[in-house]
Amino acid sequence: MAHSKESNVTDLFSPARFGTLDLANRIVMSSLTRNRAGVGNVPTPLMAEYYRQRASAGLILTEATPICAEGHGYPRTPGIHTPEQVEGWKPVTDAVHGAGGKIAVQLWHVGRISHPDLQPGGILPVAPSAIRPAGQVFTGQTMKDYVTPRALLLSEIPGVVESYAQAARHAMDAGFDGVEIHAGNGYLLDQFLRTSTNQRNDAYGGSKENRARLLLEVLEAVCKAIGHDRVGLRLSPVTPFNDISDENPQDTFEYVVGQLNPLKLAFLDLLQGTGGAPREQWIPFDYDRLRTLYTGNLIRNNGYDFETAQQAVTSGAADAIAFGRLLLANPDLVERLRRGAPLNALDYDTLYSGEEKGYTDYPFLAG
Ligand code: PHB
Repeated sequence: MAHSKESNVTDLFSPARFGTLDLANRIVMSSLTRNRAGVGNVPTPLMAEYYRQRASAGLILTEATPICAEGHGYPRTPGIHTPEQVEGWKPVTDAVHGAGGKIAVQLWHVGRISHPDLQPGGILPVAPSAIRPAGQVFTGQTMKDYVTPRALLLSEIPGVVESYAQAARHAMDAGFDGVEIHAGNGYLLDQFLRTSTNQRNDAYGGSKENRARLLLEVLEAVCKAIGHDRVGLRLSPVTPFNDISDENPQDTFEYVVGQLNPLKLAFLDLLQGTGGAPREQWIPFDYDRLRTLYTGNLIRNNGYDFETAQQAVTSGAADAIAFGRLLLANPDLVERLRRGAPLNALDYDTLYSGEEKGYTDYPFLAG
């Protein structure tokens, strides 16, 4: 589909306003874990270069970024809980702003998807319930089995909520345009939302209202800390990634989305599908129903190409589309799509290692 400047149709190249964020176009960079943080999980100058290269996207969502020491579950993921980390993010946000872009940090707590080797003082990871995830975790040296996490005490929940608010304040200090609360992919907030990981019998478990309580408290606290119009949310209703499932995802997530409307968030970032699986294998879920229920800006994510992304935006099915793999491999994706230029292929071997290789060395279009 050719882009015409004269057209009145809203398409991928049309500007948008999401809360306080002015997007130059509706091509969003999806959050992508890249494991290149420095000592102390501090962002590095190389990370600033990587994000600067991708600043022509209408909005960059950073890699998932732990809000506290207990929120880490992978080596070399940049945090936003120490003064050094906040300082380390400043050159990143400056670089993106200098190149005319917008950047929001994805706030993350992994919950049970961790290991004592990755926890402060070798403590057990925390979760809604003491249920061990199937599978293994890379601790930086080797793969180890996940452990049975410790169920958070009721008395500890306000501290978790405050960690999100504090991280959001840190994000403002670091120069971010906004934050995205990560409540998907089987991490802590998703562990509370979905039935397979939440077997609590207090006010935070059982009914969908109770399972959604922590997320809604976090959103309220973060909105209060930095303003609702800088806050986005990531949900992934059916991904089984990190050994998670829900007895009735449609019911759970229709409830959650209904509760979001009064919060007037900047955006909802909806990860569709079932991990990296092809569309034919996705667990059935009615995403259009969420579109109907949600009154704010909707970013849809996962497996879109140019045609399907244009179709989603021009038809009104989405306000923007997030691209992960395509933007990773094509820093100038916006220009390539505009020109119909060929795309670089993704190098899977350097996704989670390799320093500048497969990170800042993907070529731009000539000229
Ligand atoms: C990962 O490191 O594999 C990862 C992190 C955050 C996500 C998904 C995957 O949301």
